[in-house]
Amino acid sequence: MTLIETFYPVMKPWLFRLDAEKAHTLTVKLMIAAHRLGLLQSVVGTPQQPRTVMGLTFPNVLGLGAGMDKSASAVDAWGALGFGFVEVGTLTPRPQPGNPKPRLFRLPEHEALINRMGFNNPGIQSAVDKLQRRKTKAVVGVNIGKNFDTPNDKAVDDYLICLKAAYSVADYIAVNISSPNTKGLRDLQAEDAVRQLISTLKDEQASLQAQHGKTVPLLVKIAPDLSDMQIEALARVFNEQRIDGVIATNTTIDREAVAGHARAQETGGLSGAPVRERSNIVLKAFHTLLQPDIPIIGIGGIVKGGDAVEKLNLGAALVQVYSGLVYRGPALVREVLDQTASS
Ligand SMILES: Cc1cc2nc3c(=O)[nH]c(=O)nc-3n(C[C@H](O)[C@H](O)[C@H](O)COP(=O)(O)O)c2cc1C
Repeated sequence: MTLIETFYPVMKPWLFRLDAEKAHTLTVKLMIAAHRLGLLQSVVGTPQQPRTVMGLTFPNVLGLGAGMDKSASAVDAWGALGFGFVEVGTLTPRPQPGNPKPRLFRLPEHEALINRMGFNNPGIQSAVDKLQRRKTKAVVGVNIGKNFDTPNDKAVDDYLICLKAAYSVADYIAVNISSPNTKGLRDLQAEDAVRQLISTLKDEQASLQAQHGKTVPLLVKIAPDLSDMQIEALARVFNEQRIDGVIATNTTIDREAVAGHARAQETGGLSGAPVRERSNIVLKAFHTLLQPDIPIIGIGGIVKGGDAVEKLNLGAALVQVYSGLVYRGPALVREVLDQTASS
């Protein structure tokens, strides 16, 4: 066990007394400092099982989900912590402050979070500049979205700006059409809207590929709150447009699993243990419907090693965590890597 793994359980009660967003900001700052001091080397001694997915070699199957490092300020530290890949963002063309605070809430009894951050981020160019200087061997995905004041009929322009800006530094690009905290964003999951969006972005990907001499896979991140018909329609479009991968899933707007909790009615997306079942249903459905060469990254509710193994067994090629890390700390990274390596 590394120093940092021992340290987190000691720090956690103190962090949990702070407002959730303040605790997050402080933890990331401490982590960057610890990395500079060489204290994050949990990779040593954790099994590394490289996997080639979408033509990229991932050092292991575990990634950091989007939203934890919206500004790409700590990618080297996340890599040192043991993550095989890091998805930064969501990034929008212009910087934006996000929703008024407080906008992040813990539901510890459920190992869950509710957030309505609203894509607070420094803008795509700022993240690109930081990523140019990265040293980590972890694969880096750039998750892109639209500014809150860009109408849906112009959304494609925002995604194009971000795709072009990030292409040279990204290992993959994730198109986020599933955050519940940007008004109307999830409407882009409607069949015609998603077809138009993906077809435009795939065309641009082809010309960027010729221009840069490298292929950067294009993935779409989807919501867990989709009907069977919506899932079938999306899978149809993904197969037809030859999308490079799917990330399932984002947070849920459903509150059934946390009904009665004092925070249950906070507006936003629910994540952590309560979203796992629904995320897994959506993952399984896409695994059945997508052509076998379109990989799925499974995310939603991984709070222990076995949850990651379950997603791989349901058809995920790779997995990601967010909320589980808040509750378990870096020990979760080791546990997932140990259990996925031996499964
Ligand atoms: C505070 C917070 C912010 C998030 N921000 C983003 C984001 O900017 N873009 C995105 O695609 N997903 C975002 N997510 C969703 C996570 O990446 C993930 O899909 C979701 O939380 C389910 O995984 P989990 O149960 O492991 O947390 C955010 C989640 C949380 C808790």
